[in-house]
Amino acid sequence: EQTGKSGYDHYMLKEIHEQPTALRQGLSGRLDELSGRVTVEELDDVGTPETVHFVACGTSYHAALYGVELFREAGIPAQAFIASEYATGPAPVPENGLVIGVTQSGETADTLAALREAAGRGAETLALTNVVGSTVARECDHVMYIRSGPEIGVAASKTFSSQLTSLNLLVESLAGGATGDSRELVSALRDLPGDIQQVLDETTAEAVVDEYLGDDAFFFIGRGQNFPVALEGALKFKEITYEHAEGFAAGELKHGPLALVTARTPVFAVVTGNDERARKTIGNVKEVEARDAPVVAVTDGQSDVERYADHVLSIPETHPRTAPMLANVQLQLVSYHMADRLGRSIDKPRNLAKSVTVE
Ligand code: G6P
Repeated sequence: EQTGKSGYDHYMLKEIHEQPTALRQGLSGRLDELSGRVTVEELDDVGTPETVHFVACGTSYHAALYGVELFREAGIPAQAFIASEYATGPAPVPENGLVIGVTQSGETADTLAALREAAGRGAETLALTNVVGSTVARECDHVMYIRSGPEIGVAASKTFSSQLTSLNLLVESLAGGATGDSRELVSALRDLPGDIQQVLDETTAEAVVDEYLGDDAFFFIGRGQNFPVALEGALKFKEITYEHAEGFAAGELKHGPLALVTARTPVFAVVTGNDERARKTIGNVKEVEARDAPVVAVTDGQSDVERYADHVLSIPETHPRTAPMLANVQLQLVSYHMADRLGRSIDKPRNLAKSVTVE
């Protein structure tokens, strides 16, 4: 059952649909709704770090960028590094700093090298991984498991959602309550599997994709916690469709990428909530619209971004930290359906490997 396609055309589609289950597994026994507390047993002996460095590659690096935001909101300075860069040009590890390796497989050579480099300079290390007994789990001082279940598709899908969920648990557990709304977060996490199911049941991604077959390039924009989602949306898209896709921080468009925007470059804009970030991103949406680019808004409907969009991919209203995860599911489906329409090798994209064990 775990290794068959269970009636789905591809492992990736099966794994996208497994996300509610994967997240329930990851949350199981770790949320206490009464107290609004999070308990991750594996982290019992990890103190509150003064600073955090993340090291990771690919999709896991995008999860790390999301983790950076969570730590910063909790008042802990954090940075994310591409593991291959860190391994050969390490940032100074501060006193009482924690270096967290995010790696689904636990075997990515670049991430292992970065962690070994950090450990060699006396840093405390923590692995966030899916695979019990993996090299990273054996080598790091601490390990937290994301409990996603096996992922066969080369392009990560459910494990990214599990990483983001686990990062919320990790930050709450190490810097608990620092942001003052733990109870709301805990209840949003509890509702997350159901919210994802709703996205899966109601998505219109397949129809949206049909509008843009044959276009020149595909851009993804977001701000704050939606920036890593934009990066991941573009990475997934290029991995499995082989089309040109880029993710940008929405505010960076005007500093260069806008030169690429035409009527044949659809822009997927991730806009959740209705705060300053949302309003500024809507400003960027207007900029691309003025250059005739089609706009697909991925939104919870709280702002008026829909007014400027050609298509809308809706997500349920939720906590600001869980909204990016729901938006990501819509973008996974966009990539999947585009790749499927183009007849690509979805589960095994050309030139890519599930786990890259060479530097
Ligand atoms: C490979 C895979 C990517 C993955 C990356 C990091 O490049 O194709 O999908 O994100 O490795 O993998 P990890 O196991 O370290 O999360």
